[in-house]
Amino acid sequence: MKILGIETSCDETAAAVVEDGTEILSNVISSQVELHSRYGGIVPEVASRQHLLSITPIVEKALADAKVDAKDLSAIAVTHGPGLAGSLLVGVNFAKAVALAWGLPLIGVNHLEAHIYANWLGPDKPEFPAVSLIVSGGHTELVLLQGHGEISRLGRTRDDAAGEAFDKVARALGLGYPGGPIIEKATQGITPTRRLPRAWIRGSDDFSFSGIKTAVVRLAEELKISSSTNPSPAVLDLAASFQQAVVDVLVTKTVAAAGKHGVNQILLAGGVAANKLLRETIVRRSPIPVLIPVHILCTDNAAMVACCGYFRLLQGKIAGWDLDVVPGLSLGSSK
Ligand code: KG4
Ligand code: ZN
Repeated sequence: MKILGIETSCDETAAAVVEDGTEILSNVISSQVELHSRYGGIVPEVASRQHLLSITPIVEKALADAKVDAKDLSAIAVTHGPGLAGSLLVGVNFAKAVALAWGLPLIGVNHLEAHIYANWLGPDKPEFPAVSLIVSGGHTELVLLQGHGEISRLGRTRDDAAGEAFDKVARALGLGYPGGPIIEKATQGITPTRRLPRAWIRGSDDFSFSGIKTAVVRLAEELKISSSTNPSPAVLDLAASFQQAVVDVLVTKTVAAAGKHGVNQILLAGGVAANKLLRETIVRRSPIPVLIPVHILCTDNAAMVACCGYFRLLQGKIAGWDLDVVPGLSLGSSK
C-alpha cells in the first residue's frame, strides 16, 4: 500500500511516498530556513506564502522520485495540527483537493504522532509498550505508547520547548538561527565547564527550560556578546554547558520514566533528537534499547506523516472532507 504524505505545519514544505508504512520510496523536503533566518525566527505570514509556492512542485517531485502516479496510491495523509494555522491550511487544502480529484481516502495526521512514527522507518521496528520523548521546536513531551494510536502523556514542558530554548540561547549568544544545529556544530570538541541550573521538578515527569535559558541570557549580557562569526571561548563554553544541561535533564527523566513504566524501548523523536550529544547520552545511559530515527527523519519531513497515515488507515481512521486544521492539536486527541 503506497501512501502520499504531505507536511506543511511549520517552515518545511514536504511530500513523500511510503510503502506499507515502512519503506520510503521518496522523501522531498523544501526548507525555508534561509528565508526566515534574516528575521531570527519563523514569520508565519512568510511561511504560508512560501508553502503555497512550493507545494505543487514538491508533491510532483515526490511522485516522480517514487516513480508512481495517482493510480498507484492508496491514500493521502496530511498533517492537520499542531502547527501554524496558515501553514497547515496550505497542506490540508492541497491534500483535500488531490484526494477528491484522485478518488482517494484522506487521512488527518497529528504532527507529533508523526514524529514518533519516524521510528517505524528505521531498520529496527518499535515494540510496545514504549516510552517516547518528542523534542521539537514547539514541543517537549514524554509519552507512553501501548499500541498504535494508544498514547498517553506522562509529562511535558511547562514553558519553553527544548528546541525553542536552543534557538533562543543561540540568538542571545549571537550564534544565529536555527539554534540547535548551530550550537551542536560550534561546540564540537568543547568540554563544558559552567554549572547551569537544571530544573528537575521532583515528583513530576514535566520539564522546564526557561530557567536555564534566562541564566544563559543573563550571562550573555554580562559577557556583552555581539553577533559574531567567530565566537569567543567564553561563548562556546556557555553554549556547550547549556547543551550539556538540557541533554542531562532530557535523558535522566526519560530513562527514569521508562523504568517506572517497565517498557521495552525508548523512542526518540523530533528535531532535537538530531542532536549528537543527546543521541549518544541516551543510548549510553538507557538499560533498554533506544530507537532514534536517522537525522533527516528527526526534523520535519513527510515520510513520517505517510508512515503514521498508514497505521491510521489500517485502523480505519479516515478523515471527512470537513477535516480542519487544529493549530493546538495535542497528542492522543486524533480520533
Ligand atoms: O521537529 P522540528 O524539525 O520542527 C518542529 O516541529 O518544531 O524541530 C525543530 C527544532 C528547532 O528548534 C531546532 O533548533 C532543533 O529542532 N534542532 C536541534 C538540532 N537540529 C534541529 N536541536 C539540537 N541539536 C540539533 N542538532
Ligand atoms: Zn516537527
